[in-house]
Amino acid sequence: MSGREIENKVSHLLARMTLAEKLGQLQQLDGTWDGDVRPEQIKLAREGLLGSAIYVYDARRTTELQRVAMTESKLKIPILFAFDVVHGYRTIFPVPLGEAASWDPAVVEQADSIAASEASAAGIRWTFAPMVDIARDPRWGRIVEGSGEDPFLGAGMASAAVRGFQGTNYGSPGKIIACPKHWVAYGAAEGGRDYNTAEVSERTLREIYFPPFKAAIDAGAGSIMSAFNDLDGVPCTANSFLLTDVLRDEWHFHGIVISDWNAVNELIAHGVAANGKDAAAEALTAGVGMEMFSRLYNQYGEQLVAQGRIPVATIDRAVRRVLEAKYKLGLFEHPYADEALENAELLSPANLAAARELAARTFVLLKNDHDTLPLSRNLKSVAVIGPLADDTQSLLGPWSGDGHKEDAVTLLAGIHAKIPQAKIVYAKGCDVTGDSRTGFEEAIKAATESDFTILVVGESADMSGEAASRSSLDLPGQQLALIQAIHAIGKPYAVVLMNGRPLSIDWAATNSPAILETWFSGTEGGNAVADTLFGDTDPGGKLPVTFPRSVGQVPDYYNHKSTGRPPGVTKDYSGYSDILWTPLYPFGYGLSYTQFKLSNLQLSAARIHRDGTITVGVEVENTGDRAGDEVVQLYIHDLVASVTRPVEALKGFKRVSLQPGENRHVEFTLGPKELGFYNRAMRFVVEPGTFNVMVGDNSHDGLKSSFEVVP
Ligand code: GLC
Repeated sequence: MSGREIENKVSHLLARMTLAEKLGQLQQLDGTWDGDVRPEQIKLAREGLLGSAIYVYDARRTTELQRVAMTESKLKIPILFAFDVVHGYRTIFPVPLGEAASWDPAVVEQADSIAASEASAAGIRWTFAPMVDIARDPRWGRIVEGSGEDPFLGAGMASAAVRGFQGTNYGSPGKIIACPKHWVAYGAAEGGRDYNTAEVSERTLREIYFPPFKAAIDAGAGSIMSAFNDLDGVPCTANSFLLTDVLRDEWHFHGIVISDWNAVNELIAHGVAANGKDAAAEALTAGVGMEMFSRLYNQYGEQLVAQGRIPVATIDRAVRRVLEAKYKLGLFEHPYADEALENAELLSPANLAAARELAARTFVLLKNDHDTLPLSRNLKSVAVIGPLADDTQSLLGPWSGDGHKEDAVTLLAGIHAKIPQAKIVYAKGCDVTGDSRTGFEEAIKAATESDFTILVVGESADMSGEAASRSSLDLPGQQLALIQAIHAIGKPYAVVLMNGRPLSIDWAATNSPAILETWFSGTEGGNAVADTLFGDTDPGGKLPVTFPRSVGQVPDYYNHKSTGRPPGVTKDYSGYSDILWTPLYPFGYGLSYTQFKLSNLQLSAARIHRDGTITVGVEVENTGDRAGDEVVQLYIHDLVASVTRPVEALKGFKRVSLQPGENRHVEFTLGPKELGFYNRAMRFVVEPGTFNVMVGDNSHDGLKSSFEVVP
């Protein structure tokens, strides 16, 4: 159906709708938390007053509710079913922070494409993903849901997610509407405390927090979600600068704007609305088109229009966007899910194989002294120790859609499957949290009697995600003591991390022979980790976030400013008296089982005009004896400008797979979009001057050169 045809159909339908029916299209109400329909939803569907439902999922139950709307209501407007399909629907993929660690947008696109196929088969046609909040504070639990601290990497992952969920047309079979969230700067919550105040300058908004959203919208995202937090005093859900001036007038976004859960009602708690009616007026006026969970639009919408506080045109504009989406999805013609398709799609062998393959691309090898890893399959006895090694729920991570822990392959199970001939002894050692060390003795015995120990530590899945901020980045409970106890035996071991945020694992970083970061790796995580531990896959991931030495350094991010007292220049510099100011592991860092060499950094010119482009080329060679992946990263530093610029900024990355001895030429192009910034007048400009360029395999060091921008 063409855009014009849809426009005409929507206009025709709008003209037949009462104000109450229009307001009904602007509300999204929840089912039960395990996917069932609630009687009130049935009632509202029958009355034609339920535009969208959340937390109603699977083909049978969505059809149950949809049939009421399509056969019993007057106008027979289909319900739009939504759900948080963030990193998988039933087949669960690694958490988004892990997907970002792959530095491979194709990983995100493929995972989200499969997620969309499964979700749409289950009747879900709208997901509340990708979460694209930049996070510079690992105390904030939702760092796990996004792509980390960098806007360039985050933008790449955001557009890949939208392509995965929506394809080129979200009305195609197997595709669903994406919803980048949470607009905006939700990750800048002070103290890393979820839902807390964010104070961010417009320049930092535009250069750091906006780019992933803009990339998602440029990729065609059909909706966006307003954030809980207040931003410089104005809650995002009542913020017309964000919701109208930027989204609509500057970026020409045409999709649905939905509030976060109860966020319209929370305007009262924020103190910008005295009551529900004022809250509804604030959000509608600012530009929130659909209200999630709270019902103030329906409760007060008719009064607000009758009293002239809200023009009916505002309501019509919001309803039009909802109806357009439903027509584009084809919901009027095909409102029902297909149970046969659902049974064929969910957890299909192909989906599970993809989950295993993609998970292995997210792992980051943080340390590997004396080539401790990969392990030989001929090991006779292996101890698997740690509370997370046999934890299926944590493997799925937060926001695990309709993932069932029973489907998950634990690290213990994956190791059993990998070396069935070996004697494998499992000992929990301790819980993730708590003070008990009663399991240490059994763990020490298992490690002492084994050739090698795999020590799985970190966080349980409920320690990150929403409302899961931590004041510490240390390993919780007695897990560090467990590592130290196993270390004291003096036999070989490796630490495997399962976690949703950077952890300040400085003791292990100094003392343990090998550390593999695996995040929460999804339904097939155990098999993927075993594939990597035993060398069937190479850990080619890189950190999408800085790992600080201590929570005291937070916020600690790589693209920081120089300050007037940069470290290493003067005695009194911007550092600490009690620890090194540098991170434990820098943004972009990760090792491999093989070795790579970068050489021959070439710039296509020594100087370019401010509207010109320059090509940066480099050779990368696998100098080791086994295949592996390297992520070549390009950083720039604008040395002198009218406003302070970050000491480095990622402006290009490419993951390449190389056989031993293989050499590859990698090229990047820099132009105004990469070199520009917002000047003192808040205009996006490229200023003349020297730009340093660094190309490496992390943000800390690499091959360096420079070029001039001339007026
Ligand atoms: C939550 C989250 C949001 C999610 C929504 C629906 O509170 O903030 O990310 O999409 O509610 O589950």
